[in-house]
Amino acid sequence: MRTNQPRTIYLSEYRVPAFLVDHVDLRFELFEQGARVHSTLDVRRNPDYPERAEHLELDGDSLRLEAVSLNGVTLEADHYQDQGDKLVVLSVPDQFQLTVVTWIEPQNNTRLEGLYKSSGMFCTQCEAEGFRCITFFPDRPDVMARFRTRIEADKSSYPVLLSNGNDIERGELADGRHFVTWEDPFPKPCYLFALVAGDLLLKQDTFTTCSGREIDLRIYVEPRNATKCEHAMDSLQRSMRWDETVYGREYDLDIFMIVAVDDFNMGAMENKGLNIFNSSCVLASPETATDASFQRIEAIVAHEYFHNWSGNRVTCRDWFQLSLKEGFTVFRDAGFSADMGSPIVKRIEDATLMRTAQFAEDAGPMSHPVRPSSYMEISNFYTLTIYEKGAEVVRMIHTLLGPDLFRKGSDLYFERHDGQAVTTDDFVRAMEDASGRDLSQFRLWYEQAGTPVLTVRDEFDAEAGIYRLSIEQSIPDTAGQTDKKPQHIPFALGLLGPDGEAVPLRLSENEADAPLERVLELTEARHSFEFHGVQTQPVPSLLREFSAPVRVDYPWTREQLLFLMSHDSDGFNRWDAGQQLAVDVIRSLMDGENGAVDERLVDAYRVLLNDPALDQALVAKMLLLPSEAYLIELSNDVDVQAIHEARTRVLDHLANALRDDLLACFHRNAGSGDYQLTPEAIAGRSLRNTALAWLLHIGDQEACTLAQQQFDVAGNMTDRLGALRALVNSRFVAEREAALETFYQCWEADPQVVEQWFSVQAGSQQSGTLEAIKALLQHPAFDWKNPNKVRSVIGVFAGQNLAQFHQPDGSGYRFLADQVCRLDDSNPQIAARLVSPLTRWKKFAQPYCSAMKEALETVRAKDGLSKDVYEVVHKSLR
Ligand code: ARG
Ligand code: ZN
Repeated sequence: MRTNQPRTIYLSEYRVPAFLVDHVDLRFELFEQGARVHSTLDVRRNPDYPERAEHLELDGDSLRLEAVSLNGVTLEADHYQDQGDKLVVLSVPDQFQLTVVTWIEPQNNTRLEGLYKSSGMFCTQCEAEGFRCITFFPDRPDVMARFRTRIEADKSSYPVLLSNGNDIERGELADGRHFVTWEDPFPKPCYLFALVAGDLLLKQDTFTTCSGREIDLRIYVEPRNATKCEHAMDSLQRSMRWDETVYGREYDLDIFMIVAVDDFNMGAMENKGLNIFNSSCVLASPETATDASFQRIEAIVAHEYFHNWSGNRVTCRDWFQLSLKEGFTVFRDAGFSADMGSPIVKRIEDATLMRTAQFAEDAGPMSHPVRPSSYMEISNFYTLTIYEKGAEVVRMIHTLLGPDLFRKGSDLYFERHDGQAVTTDDFVRAMEDASGRDLSQFRLWYEQAGTPVLTVRDEFDAEAGIYRLSIEQSIPDTAGQTDKKPQHIPFALGLLGPDGEAVPLRLSENEADAPLERVLELTEARHSFEFHGVQTQPVPSLLREFSAPVRVDYPWTREQLLFLMSHDSDGFNRWDAGQQLAVDVIRSLMDGENGAVDERLVDAYRVLLNDPALDQALVAKMLLLPSEAYLIELSNDVDVQAIHEARTRVLDHLANALRDDLLACFHRNAGSGDYQLTPEAIAGRSLRNTALAWLLHIGDQEACTLAQQQFDVAGNMTDRLGALRALVNSRFVAEREAALETFYQCWEADPQVVEQWFSVQAGSQQSGTLEAIKALLQHPAFDWKNPNKVRSVIGVFAGQNLAQFHQPDGSGYRFLADQVCRLDDSNPQIAARLVSPLTRWKKFAQPYCSAMKEALETVRAKDGLSKDVYEVVHKSLR
């Protein structure tokens, strides 16, 4: 805990490690009152280090040092310095064995970094810098060692003892204790170390790899979750097969384990051979989890599995390279999800996340490049920019190279760097070397922050039959970065003729076999393109499939958008045209130009609701109005209440005008009994629940009865929660309260369901008032030590319930500031994430703006602010 400013770490200061560790021997003695960790390192001087380092420096955090010995001889106190965050062993030889004994208290570890306890079990989270909370060690990813781990614990409380690799020995000890020893044959950085000890139930299956090896797949959960493992196991098997087929990557150990833990700061962790998951990201059954959770679980299981190659076999040289593994792995899991479900829907979801949340981050005070050049606390950089924008950057390489050359590039990358800790530049170079393409300008995507804006203008010369397109790119200034260079942007484009047919894209007069779609490569600040042989004024379909993470500025008319909405062959752009049209209609209400909602929007939605020939998965997405968060992101000087009111008016109007169509849609998608996860079945449930939500929004009595019935009889959580959410967001107070009560009584023993119950209330327009949120914090099921509970109440309120959070009197902001201060002492990572809705105060109009700033200032004034929150708050206030 600090009073002065934390140190900033710079990429430019990177130096190779002075010492390397070849082997680590760990022995954990686990007790209720703490744990003793014996660590023996085989250390040698790094021949690549430019000087001769005299002393060995190891990182540490919150450790009690008990003993140090070198080559078996106990060191006297004048041979080392325990500086708290460093252990310096003085004047060491070139090669030696160092043993360090530390004492830690996992049971009091509320930061959930290092070794901690969750629901009675011991577990670890070491990425990024948690291993130093376990023992003194060179805690940096470019120090890779082979680990052997012996775990000792009471046998009846902790029958299951797990670590990375293979279990090579087990046995009994005195006093009812036992031990298991694990050996991981692959050298790894310490952030991939894991340990679990608990009373866990095992679900087992196998996977036969492409070369015929049989892998033992194990999912460990608390006994009450025995029926919730099947989906994760299926997802794992599908991921393993997919990585073999699409990337040629085979699994390398004989065992692959997943453990579910209830208290976890993030989603999951790819520890070698022993992935640890937040329970909410792995456990599911149709009765307890929604379609969205099923899909999320499939994606996260795949993500962590894919890390075995993109992250573990080839890892990061330093934490500035985090996107090397995260961006690439998100790109890989997106490809997997697209292949397992509906590719268009997956693309819509990813683009929505980028455009609402990542663009906001990239324009805010924490804006940073995909490869940052400095940080104070690395935990603050597990961001949408590193993950999602990083994935978009890899996706653009895929677009520029095409699938075959991209695969050659990834093969070369894995082969060239297997067993190494490398940089994003090494990744790009492998792509260049395999494809023969020059990506030097493309590298700016890793160095420059900010979302490029493409200003697109067109003109049609009817006489010459030429359609001209001019595209200008500019990249806004961002926190600490100005005067940016043009980037290399793949811009996918099509042109639609008067009947919606694709117009051939002839870049010269007599081009034969011109393609119907092109990926234009933008490299200059300004380009113009001429398309020849165009008979009538076309409608452009721009940035198809969101081919680059950029904003497009084009003066759309509503006629053009309506036309694209029904005719574009690119499903993504059909959806996007609908979104832009709805945005335009909502904004015109805010401008007060004309008081009425454009009837053409109603007509367009009526077509969507009634044409069964349309892809229902796409329709389900098209029916969702742009979110308040997206509308805020598109605006400056934001008046949240005005946005909320305009959007609500459009929703009212649509729901009233389409009442009968919505009822018909609801009944048509009544669904069959058994729960299926096909895109069609998911779309059906989504349509049905959207219809219900809209109808309850306008207080429809018949819909209220239907919602109650659905709530009572639903065979799955998607429909049950859909009905509950519709009721909770309605004005039917008695029905809402009754449903909430019933739901809680039914599911109070299931933490994952209770979290959803909290979220539905915290996100409600009707019941999610500040007073109601405060009451939820007093609920017996709320737990300040459990990140999922904190997120499901405070996180959802401040991050998703925007109209309630942004009260003009600033009460929502003060509330959030208080909770951040409270959490800062127990869990700084969570506190730093939670504060983020306040950081964008400059974007808002008065009185919001000043009130947000004031709330941030109260956080800044807290005594002993953690490094995590310090960095976010100070960067936001400067
Ligand atoms: N590498 C993990 C993943 O991508 C993220 C874990 C980071 N954890 C943390 N506490 N910073 O899934
Ligand atoms: Zn990851």
